[in-house]
Amino acid sequence: MFILNTSSDYRRPLEPGHAELLGATAATKVERHLTYRDRHAATPLLSLPKLAAEIGVAAIHIKDEGQRLGLGSFKALGGAYAVIELVLEEAARILNHPVDIDELHSHAVREIAERMTFACATDGNHGRSVAQGAQLVGGRAAIFVHSGVSGERIAAIARFGAEMIRVDGSYDDSVREAARVAQRQGWTIVSDTSWPGYERIPGLVMQGYTALVREALEAMTETPTHVFIQSGVGGVAAAVAGHLALSLGERRPIFTVVDPARAACLFETARAGHPVTVPHGEPTVMAMLECYAPSLIAWRILSRAADAFMTVDEEEAISVMRRLARPAAGDPAIVAGESGGVGLAGLLKAATDPEIRTALSMDERSRIFLVNTEGATDPGMYEEIVGLSPAAVAKRNFDGATPI
Ligand SMILES: Cc1ncc(COP(=O)(O)O)c(C=O)c1O
Repeated sequence: MFILNTSSDYRRPLEPGHAELLGATAATKVERHLTYRDRHAATPLLSLPKLAAEIGVAAIHIKDEGQRLGLGSFKALGGAYAVIELVLEEAARILNHPVDIDELHSHAVREIAERMTFACATDGNHGRSVAQGAQLVGGRAAIFVHSGVSGERIAAIARFGAEMIRVDGSYDDSVREAARVAQRQGWTIVSDTSWPGYERIPGLVMQGYTALVREALEAMTETPTHVFIQSGVGGVAAAVAGHLALSLGERRPIFTVVDPARAACLFETARAGHPVTVPHGEPTVMAMLECYAPSLIAWRILSRAADAFMTVDEEEAISVMRRLARPAAGDPAIVAGESGGVGLAGLLKAATDPEIRTALSMDERSRIFLVNTEGATDPGMYEEIVGLSPAAVAKRNFDGATPI
């Protein structure tokens, strides 16, 4: 399914608060934060010339977030960043003077952080980031996981010393439970989704994501003409669309949000013109995108800065994982987890459907930007789907991409 954005806010400038949240000054601050993080390095921007020629566009660039900060996904940029910011704010409040990130490991700040507990609900990746952030500042983490989160993903979060709390039901149930318990216990809830009256912290999480857009723009010789970004609650799509709109203005690329058909909350929200919760159906293989209600702040940004919304099916997500693992000779092999290649799945569908291609003004001059949002965050599942281990796929690039 595909629709153009028909919201009454479409193409209006971002709200001033959102412009501040996702603009150049904010991105510079995030960049500075990252220099204080272990294993920080810009993630690779890879070019897929063979695939571009095959689908009749000039270029495809994919930002590979699989190795971000050693956590396996772009989510490493958001949750941990928000945790650090919240500690600095709390320290400033208690010590009664502004506190810089330079002082994060000072005795006084550490003592304050040790008294803080950061809670969130997660499909896997956001929780790992919040848990890592809490460990970094010396605070505690309580991470709520619903019944669909795999054992491998739970273990990867628990490794950071987080308390794991299991919740019966879906991601949305775990979001509600995390908020309820956190309020009762006096914990700080660091959610990647927002609801009425709770937008500031999810905004900080999104601010962290701007780093990947800035790195990509710096690495590209020409700005992209089209962008396809996958959505769960819409946070990363809104951060990318918002930052691009603010940095490029009228030259911003045509932006498409890609949802799984089985959890199409952004698509249905765009179709209705207001936030919509979609019914729970069968689970989707795109596990990190299985969200049934959009983040309100994300929607307010996307209603202005996104041009189109589309859905992809289960087989399309699976097929791009396999395709990225076994690319045409000349393109690099990429390890993309179940939710990682979904933007590419959207592009492939759009490029090969004449109506969508025309609606998005895509042609042989188009330069596409995508984000592989995760590597094999569940290696067992990856191998089952792709038929190769993540290590075997990564090794292909060193072996000169020998056919498998
Ligand atoms: C790998 C991956 N891709 C995409 C998303 C979607 O991000 P958002 O929920 O901000 O839309 C997530 C969310 O957890 C994710 O983990």
